[in-house]
Amino acid sequence: MLLKKCYFLQKFMDSTIIDSVLKKGVIIMRYSYDDLKNLGVQIMERAGLQNSEAEIFLENLLYADARGVHSHGLSRLGVYAKRVSCGVIKSGVDATVIAESESTAALDGHNGIGAKIGRQAMDLAIKKAKDTGCAVVTVKHGNHFGACSFYSRYASQKGMIAIVMANSIANGVPFGGAKAMLGTNPFAIAVPANHMRDFDFDGATSTVAHGKVVLAQKEGKSIPLGWGVDKEGRPTTDPHHVAFMVPFGGAKGSALSLFIDIMCSCLAGGLNSRKSHSFFKDFGHPQDIGYVMIVINPDKFLPEEEFLQKVDAELKDFSDCPPAVGHNKVYLPGEIEGMKETESTKKGVELSDTTIRELKKLCMDYGVTENL
Ligand SMILES: NC(=O)c1ccc[n+]([C@@H]2O[C@H](COP(=O)([O-])OP(=O)(O)OC[C@H]3O[C@@H](n4cnc5c(N)ncnc54)[C@H](O)[C@@H]3O)[C@@H](O)[C@H]2O)c1
Repeated sequence: MLLKKCYFLQKFMDSTIIDSVLKKGVIIMRYSYDDLKNLGVQIMERAGLQNSEAEIFLENLLYADARGVHSHGLSRLGVYAKRVSCGVIKSGVDATVIAESESTAALDGHNGIGAKIGRQAMDLAIKKAKDTGCAVVTVKHGNHFGACSFYSRYASQKGMIAIVMANSIANGVPFGGAKAMLGTNPFAIAVPANHMRDFDFDGATSTVAHGKVVLAQKEGKSIPLGWGVDKEGRPTTDPHHVAFMVPFGGAKGSALSLFIDIMCSCLAGGLNSRKSHSFFKDFGHPQDIGYVMIVINPDKFLPEEEFLQKVDAELKDFSDCPPAVGHNKVYLPGEIEGMKETESTKKGVELSDTTIRELKKLCMDYGVTENL
């Protein structure tokens, strides 16, 4: 034990580890955001991204890790790097306008890196909504763009209400179905507040993101019942036996997932979930999915102060709800992630041993010097 303690103390002094604590028998390691970003940027540049693309892409991954959403953080770096190296994620491309009105734009993402194309789409939606009050921007030829709230919160921090959605490969059964028809098709909704945290919902339309099953497989952990079913449709706790994800909320999640697929394929022009290509397995094709960004400018409805006061009051009232037995608090959407983000800013980003091992290997593969 003493040896272990000395080892970790030594590592702590030598490397980018900036905090380590023992939680339920497991040592939790925290790493410097800047050091992780720097390593990731170097890897992605060597894989083929331009520097500015690698920068925003790493901000996207570390945004998720800082919020404890490790399914969408550095654990995906290796797959993204491979997709860039194979050319199915294109470097150096920008979103271009195919059709446009005062309050709408249809963009082609040219299969560029999702974080950059997604932000370009959101920047345009914000600009249009500032003038018109409401804007819708779609993207076709899109790649995986990570956590949806990377875009919706960016908008809410600029005073806008935002809804963001994307589709993904069909790996889930619809309610009552026995074949993969639906992607985990995520969406995020953010509403700005003043003294309270912004309303910040961000989730898959499956019970959880498929990335959480992939992460459990890599980390040798079991999963809760309800995340997925095996090929006979039986609920399973073994992530290796998950053949299909299941929609959250039964028929309602199934319907919402289908709606997102319609918006991202029929409206935006991406491939639908059944036709799009796998992020994890298909290195011969870009994913070719769609995104939709909807932005509402509250200033066009009522004075800013009045709106923010009302949102604060609503959120405060909601969170004052007494907790049920077995719960310690009623959390707002995004509150748990927001608290983790604050902690990560102060103490460094928590990462698992598995992710650190993968990062070290990637550094070796791409010739990047590390001291993790
Ligand atoms: N780009 C893609 O293709 C893709 C696909 C699927 C998911 N994702 C991303 O994966 C991430 C994780 O998705 P998920 O569905 O696993 O998220 P999740 O189920 O952990 O959380 C979904 C939402 O529920 C809220 N929530 C969770 N527990 C809560 C509680 N106890 N009290 C109050 N609110 C609570 C969270 O704050 C969050 O807003 C998201 O960032 C999502 O955008 C991306």
